[in-house]
Amino acid sequence: MSQTGVRIAAVGHYAPEGILTNEDLEKVLDTSDEWITTRTGMKRRHVSSEKQATSDLAIAAARIALAKTSLTPADIDCYVVATVTPDYPFPATACIVAAQLGASDKAAFDIEIACSGFIYGLTVASSLIRSGIYKRIMLIGAETLTKIVDRTDRSTAILFGDGAGAVILEAAQSDCFLSSELGSDGSRPELLRVTAGGTRYPLTPAAYEARDQFIHMEGREVFKFAVTKMISATDVALQKAQLQKTDLDWLIPHQANKRIIDAAAKYLDMPEEKVIVNIHEYGNTSAASIPIALSEAVESGRIKSGDIIVFVGFGGGLSWGAVTWRWAA
Ligand code: UT7
Repeated sequence: MSQTGVRIAAVGHYAPEGILTNEDLEKVLDTSDEWITTRTGMKRRHVSSEKQATSDLAIAAARIALAKTSLTPADIDCYVVATVTPDYPFPATACIVAAQLGASDKAAFDIEIACSGFIYGLTVASSLIRSGIYKRIMLIGAETLTKIVDRTDRSTAILFGDGAGAVILEAAQSDCFLSSELGSDGSRPELLRVTAGGTRYPLTPAAYEARDQFIHMEGREVFKFAVTKMISATDVALQKAQLQKTDLDWLIPHQANKRIIDAAAKYLDMPEEKVIVNIHEYGNTSAASIPIALSEAVESGRIKSGDIIVFVGFGGGLSWGAVTWRWAA
């Protein structure tokens, strides 16, 4: 197998039209715009319709990315969807996405590592290209988290939104993938999980009664872990790439809480204008948050060829990861 480089050839994102504002939440929960804004930085989230599943959002984002190239879906060798809200427990959502796009004979698989999904996916997809196995991969982070959120739980109902971001990775002479640092600690899965519906705790009437089909999170614990891991993963990824904090042009973090992002940015000496933040518009879209943020930043012309980016995320598992990347237009 030949060794080659990898670049991101195109990016696209899609968010459903439905909007849920802090004011909407005030009407149904014991919460306030002031609490949500100061504790999270969130103002609005996009919400999928009853008829929209995760693959619908993923396909829309993929089409937008494809439209920025002269490629057809059949030119993509492999489809990867990072999601914690698949259309079905199985088959993989990526198979549905590829087929709907008209590329049903291509390789397709899902990555399920919650909010770290895009970082893990970027590492795996880049490796498949750098090793020469594939020339082009469509990597999509897509979620419909509002369908698995407990609307009666104010500690989580305010946090999550729906959306999808897609990147087309392709073989290139010059390598944009500079390093990756991934990690996990599954010793306390109860900190952030959907408890019922798997083989450990099947969906029984008692599970429904306990509302265990929904996201459960120990927010304070996850917050502490998130800040620590965002910082350490970024540090190690920079070391692996033989880069200094001062070499960084952009930080594109998982959008879980503005306070977590600010703490990480402060440690990295990154001024506000170099940190991509869109949490006010989307809330936390798990595996979709980083590619949506990247897509918006590229679309607005902020990211220029040659810029050094750190993508960093964390989430259920617990899990975390950071990738350093050189942008090439
Ligand atoms: O992407 C996956 C990873 N997820 C995350 O990274 C999320 C990490 N955690 C967080 O972002 C924060 O912990 C939250 C935003 C979830 C919560 O913020 P916090 O500052 O950690 O609040 P807290 O859980 O310590 O709760 C403080 C108070 C509590 O009241 P008491 O016990 O002090 O009387 C909560 O009951 O705030 C209360 N509270 C609320 N009040 C109004 C919790 N949720 C709400 C709410 N509105 N929505």
